[in-house]
Amino acid sequence: MAEQICLFTKDTIIIKPSKKSPALLRMTVLVFAMAFGVYICSICLKQSNFSISSKFLNNEIIERTHCDYSIDRSQIPYVHYPNPKTFSRVECACNPVRLFAIVSMQRSGSGWFETLLNSHINVSSNGEIFSVKERRNNVSSILMTLDRVYNLDWFTSASKNQCSAAIGFKWMLNQGLMEHHKEIVEYFNDRGVSIIFLFRRNLLRRMVSDLANSYDRYAKLLNGRHKSHVHSHEEANTLSTYKPAINLTSLVEDLKLMDKTVLEALEYFSSTRHFIIYYEDLMKNRTVSCLFNFMKNLGIILVTYRIR
Ligand SMILES: *[C@@H]1O[C@H](CO)[C@@H](O)[C@H](O)[C@H]1NC(C)=O
Ligand SMILES: *[C@@H]1O[C@H](CO)[C@@H](O)[C@H](O)[C@H]1NC(C)=O
Ligand SMILES: *[C@@H]1O[C@H](CO)[C@@H](O)[C@H](O)[C@H]1NC(C)=O
Ligand SMILES: *[C@@H]1O[C@H](CO)[C@@H](O)[C@H](O)[C@H]1NC(C)=O
Repeated sequence: MAEQICLFTKDTIIIKPSKKSPALLRMTVLVFAMAFGVYICSICLKQSNFSISSKFLNNEIIERTHCDYSIDRSQIPYVHYPNPKTFSRVECACNPVRLFAIVSMQRSGSGWFETLLNSHINVSSNGEIFSVKERRNNVSSILMTLDRVYNLDWFTSASKNQCSAAIGFKWMLNQGLMEHHKEIVEYFNDRGVSIIFLFRRNLLRRMVSDLANSYDRYAKLLNGRHKSHVHSHEEANTLSTYKPAINLTSLVEDLKLMDKTVLEALEYFSSTRHFIIYYEDLMKNRTVSCLFNFMKNLGIILVTYRIR
C-alpha cells in the first residue's frame, strides 16, 4: 500500500512539467475547475427545464410520483391517476382508477349488467356513449371521446365522484367499434383498458328480443311509452303479447352473420386485456362468480354484487 502511494507521488512528480512554474499549474487547475463547474451547472439547468416541461406534458406521471401506491406491480399498466379538466379529485387524487369497456350487442343483457356494475359506489359505467353518430364519425372523434371518458371528464347520470375506482361505458359492435378496430385496439392496449365482452349464447332469443324492441319503438305498448327494459312482471307480460314474425328465408343466414360478427370481434380484440361473459351464465349462477373474479382482477375492492 505504502509502496503504491510512493509510486503515485513519483509519477506525479514526473508528470509535472517543471517545479519552477507552480503558477501555470494553478492556472490549469483553476481553468479545469471552472469548466467543470459550468458543465455541472448546465446539467442542473437542463434537468430543471425538463421537469418543468414534463409537468405540462404528462400530469399523470407527476401525479403518480406524489402517490404512495402500494399496488401489485403487475397491475401498473392498468391503473391510472387521471387529472380531470373539469374538477379536482382532491383527497382521492391518489386513488387508482381502472378503465374498462363493456363490448356487447343490443338485447344481450348489457343494460341490466351495467346497472349491476353501477350499483357499486365507486364504479361508473356511462351507457352507450357511441350511440350518438357524431362521436363515432371518424377515428379522431372516437379517440377524443374515449380520452374524455377515461379522464373522468364525461358526465352522465352514472358519473360518480372524484373517488371513482373504475370507469367505463357500453359499446355495441355496430357503433363504430368494428370499423375502427385497429386504432381502438391500439388505444386500449396503450392505456390499459380492459374489455368485458358480454354476449348472449342464444342468438335466436336475441333476435326475437331485437324484433320486439324495434316494434315497440313505434307501437309503444306501455301506456304510450317505449321501454327497452321492463321493471316489473306486468310490464314484461304486456310487451310479450307481441309475437314477432321471423323471416324464415333469411333466418339461418341472419344467425350465422351474428355469430360471425361476435367471433370477428373476439378476434380483433384478442390482444387486449379482456374477459368474456355470457348472459345465460350470469343468469344461471346467481352468485355471479365470474364477475367476482373479473372485478378482483380489476382490483376493485368489492361490495357484494349479488343478483336478486
Ligand atoms: C369507495 O372509495 C372510497 C374512497 O377511496 C373508499 O373509502 C370506499 O371504501 C370505497 N367503497 C367501496 C365500497 O369500495
Ligand atoms: C371527425 O368528426 C368530427 C365530428 O363529426 C368532425 O368535427 C371532424 O371534422 C371530423 N374529423 C375528420 C378528420 O374528418
Ligand atoms: C325475407 O328475407 C329474404 C332474404 O333476405 C328477402 O328477400 C325477403 O324479402 C324477406 N321477407 C320479408 C317478408 O321481409
Ligand atoms: C356459482 O358460482 C359459485 C362460485 O364460483 C360456485 O361455488 C357455485 O357452485 C356456482 N353455482 C352453480 C349453480 O353453478
